Amino acid sequence: MKKTLLAAALALSMAGSAFAADLPNISILATGGTIAGAASSNTQVTGYKAGALAIQTLIDAVPAMKDYANVTGEQIVKISSNNMTDEVLLKLAKRCNELLADPKVDGIVITHGTDTLEETAYFLNLTVKSKKPVVVVGAMRPATAISADGPMNLLNAVKLAADPNAQDRGVLVALNDQINAAHDATKTNTTNVATFQAHDIGLLGYIAGGQNYFFRDTTFKHTHETEFDVSKIDKLPRVDIVYSHASDDSVLVDAAVKAGAKGIISAGSGNGSIHQDTEKGLAEAVKKGVVVVRSSRTGSGIVTPTDPDNQYTKAGFLNGYSLNPQKARILLQLALTKTQDPKEIQRMFTEY
Ligand code: SIN
Repeated sequence: MKKTLLAAALALSMAGSAFAADLPNISILATGGTIAGAASSNTQVTGYKAGALAIQTLIDAVPAMKDYANVTGEQIVKISSNNMTDEVLLKLAKRCNELLADPKVDGIVITHGTDTLEETAYFLNLTVKSKKPVVVVGAMRPATAISADGPMNLLNAVKLAADPNAQDRGVLVALNDQINAAHDATKTNTTNVATFQAHDIGLLGYIAGGQNYFFRDTTFKHTHETEFDVSKIDKLPRVDIVYSHASDDSVLVDAAVKAGAKGIISAGSGNGSIHQDTEKGLAEAVKKGVVVVRSSRTGSGIVTPTDPDNQYTKAGFLNGYSLNPQKARILLQLALTKTQDPKEIQRMFTEY
């Protein structure tokens, strides 16, 4: 009788491990942020320490993930994402590519602060060479808060990364039950959990009732379709952003050039307009070999192409189209790892 019970227990435990072996394998790469934030009281939702908790603590807080995937965690850095660096971006891209080249890895989740999440997601969207899902997730309330959004966001992100239907859609941004494409998502609110929006183009999909629903395909070229290869790159070219405003001048443009900028993004007013005093500085920068791209500080819309006899065309300024300034900066950094040819760089701004 005892033997029968033991055999039954063994069979059950083997069945359990066989089931786990059938689950997708998801690697979580952790970088810090509010999703790993800790405060001294459970009602504190500002002024907390972002990136305080280790990835294993976040995994242990959501045991339900184990029902959907075999999850492993790896701490890349523990920072607040306003301190993100090119070095960390390169490390993340290389680690993603290493992991995704392993047939045993089915997808990646990256936990990240929301402040610069869109830049990391877009960088990975251009540098990860795989069709497997890569999902970037964060939270707006620290892990210690009542109604913390991190645990559910993390569970949703793991399930999304494990979903075959999430493949070949580029890097995904998943928070607050919404799925966005890395190209489109931007942080729009300082504190609200519904902060990520894709103004003109809309969501890629929803997460509802524990299911992923996709509304549309990803629009721009991404991941395995891009020409960017950072596998042998240890440093990215310096690209600065200058933000247009009334009474602007070229002091910051000159400072960027002096600091060694290889590119400058103009966060112009309206349809990429530039104050005449700043324009002179940018035109001088182009003459010195700096690539200048016009984008807009408005937060939505397209910077429309200019005619051949337009002053901006004549000055050699390129057009950032629908990318916001911070994403235009990421693309220009990567473009400059390939070429200095303005025509080629302009092509990249239409494709990515
Ligand atoms: C951060 O970006 O690391 C802090 C803010 C956040 O994650 O919401």
